[in-house]
Amino acid sequence: MFDLRELSSRVVAAPMAGGPTTPELVVAAASAGGVGQLAAGYLTPDKVRADIAAVRAAGTEVFGVNIFVPEPEPVNSENLARYRAELVPYARSLGVTLPDVDDLGDDDDHFEAKIRLVCDERVPLVSFAFGCPRPEVVDELRRHGCSVGVTVTTAADAETAGQAGADWLCVQGPDAGGHRSVFDRRTNPPTQPLDELIGEVVGRVPLPVVAAGGISTPARAEKVRSLGPVAVQVGTVLLRTGEAGTKPAHAAALVDPDRTETVVTWAFSGRPARALRNLFTDRFSDAAVAEYPAVNTLTGGIRRAASNDPDGINLWAGSGFGDAAEESAVDTISRLG
Ligand SMILES: Cc1cc2nc3c(=O)[nH]c(=O)nc-3n(C[C@H](O)[C@H](O)[C@H](O)COP(=O)(O)O)c2cc1C
Repeated sequence: MFDLRELSSRVVAAPMAGGPTTPELVVAAASAGGVGQLAAGYLTPDKVRADIAAVRAAGTEVFGVNIFVPEPEPVNSENLARYRAELVPYARSLGVTLPDVDDLGDDDDHFEAKIRLVCDERVPLVSFAFGCPRPEVVDELRRHGCSVGVTVTTAADAETAGQAGADWLCVQGPDAGGHRSVFDRRTNPPTQPLDELIGEVVGRVPLPVVAAGGISTPARAEKVRSLGPVAVQVGTVLLRTGEAGTKPAHAAALVDPDRTETVVTWAFSGRPARALRNLFTDRFSDAAVAEYPAVNTLTGGIRRAASNDPDGINLWAGSGFGDAAEESAVDTISRLG
């Protein structure tokens, strides 16, 4: 089984669902001596299988696949209907008809099929976001040679992951871009600084740690690794690299001098996520409801219609967004390693 301590460059390219992670980005991470992870979130199992094949066809054997754990709590239709009503005028202004609340179910993002796929493919690293997989799932993955990682935002969740049999932890701090990996979508994501959280996790759970959140410079990466983690995981700093599939409006917004602030919002997906502040977050964050994945589907049409408008899409970004350079990911990862 692959051990993260074997990396020559102690950097993990974050799985970034929704387009930014491509097979090319995963291959670039490996060629810089680190490791990349495909983002299976929102994709069909067939698409994930094709992405795995593309990574392998480029000669990269060590890589990961990241999967979203389904929500334990069903969505609340009343909350959803209330938020839908808030969105209607804006959707109409874009010519978008929002789906009916009754059509927004508790989609599990093909969880079981994705588990079967990564087992069949014997993917070296399999990581999870949004929760902890059941111990039987972890066992099954390990029997197929997959090293299992669970993303946590608290020391208590790290203990849960350890008890479920995880091989390693991704410890995500409050500065992280994109979704915060809280197990309960309705809780406010913890604000405990990353360095403190690492100390608590390392003291309580004897597993290798990959640390994530706001890491965007070599000095910061080195400091974080000196606290015990075997590697740092970076996402935002890769968003402008040539290998990333970031939407042009998103990549441009990261260097727009008028965008100086990130916020944590439930407005796009119904789960808390850090994004550059824009008109959408200003207008809808207060009204948003914690009803993932239904809110993600609900806003999908709006986001597609506004895909070229930085004020209408989710501009996921961590606090280090100012360091995202337009260059090859091989250079970014080599610098941070
Ligand atoms: C655009 C974007 C998409 C993301 N998608 C995922 C994902 O699919 N799965 C996951 O575990 N983490 C995801 N994350 C979070 C990263 O794994 C990681 O925690 C975060 O990028 C670290 O903070 P940084 O962005 O400041 O480097 C995403 C982050 C970004 C910026």
